[in-house]
Amino acid sequence: MAQQRVVVLTGAGISAESGLRTFRDGDGLWEEHRIEDVATPQAWIADPVLVWRFYQARRRQLLEVKPNAAHQALATFATKTDHFTLITQNVDDLHERAGNESTIHMHGRLKTLRCEQSGRSEVRMEEADFCDEFLYCQCCAVPQRLRHDIVWFGEMPMQMEAIHSAVEKSDLFIVVGSSGHVYPAAGLVNVANAAGATTILVNLEAPMNAENFDEVHLGKAGELLPNILEALS
Ligand code: OAD
Repeated sequence: MAQQRVVVLTGAGISAESGLRTFRDGDGLWEEHRIEDVATPQAWIADPVLVWRFYQARRRQLLEVKPNAAHQALATFATKTDHFTLITQNVDDLHERAGNESTIHMHGRLKTLRCEQSGRSEVRMEEADFCDEFLYCQCCAVPQRLRHDIVWFGEMPMQMEAIHSAVEKSDLFIVVGSSGHVYPAAGLVNVANAAGATTILVNLEAPMNAENFDEVHLGKAGELLPNILEALS
């Protein structure tokens, strides 16, 4: 395994057992909010207070949750693998807190906020940074309003070049806890298949793109993933 090139893509399901809600399950975030009201550039223009408070509430939750057995198992697995890339669609920091410090966040991060003027991101995790009022940057002469450092619908996912390059070279591609609804993340399994990689899926329920995987394991990531990774090590 040490010689193999392994790429893992995670989604909201991996953080569910830590107490963070997914998006599309029965009690998911998109049951309560319309995507276009809180997760688009148009929403930010139309009702910035609603969007700001929606993501500030998500940020405050980071302080209450901790990595679970699935995050921990991936951190251990990474130490046994020379070529390991972890890509997440999640905006939480649970992979980093488990030990995967160089996780690629293709949909952005809650830990950082971004200056609307300069585009520069800054870590804002002090107590005062979790308020319901807008915050302002530390980079401009006249501090400018910050937005959340999240990829909204209609915006380009981050680090796509690095992501494609890793998946195109992968021998093993594992997806954990994602419904396969959102592209380009959902299409990465096709890139891995084209590269000749073995593809494995670990998810609570069979997602949209389940037929694209060589192996499908249905169940909770925290219960299944540690054994699956142990067997691969
Ligand atoms: P979804 O909410 O669409 O899917 C989560 C998946 O995790 C579902 O298929 C569940 O069955 C599964 N799941 C739930 N609990 C699980 C558990 N304990 N173990 C394993 N699987 C479990 O979340 P994503 O696929 O991550 O984007 O959503 C992709 C993107 O849609 C998100 O990054 C977000 C959202 O809109 C943006 O905000 C840009």
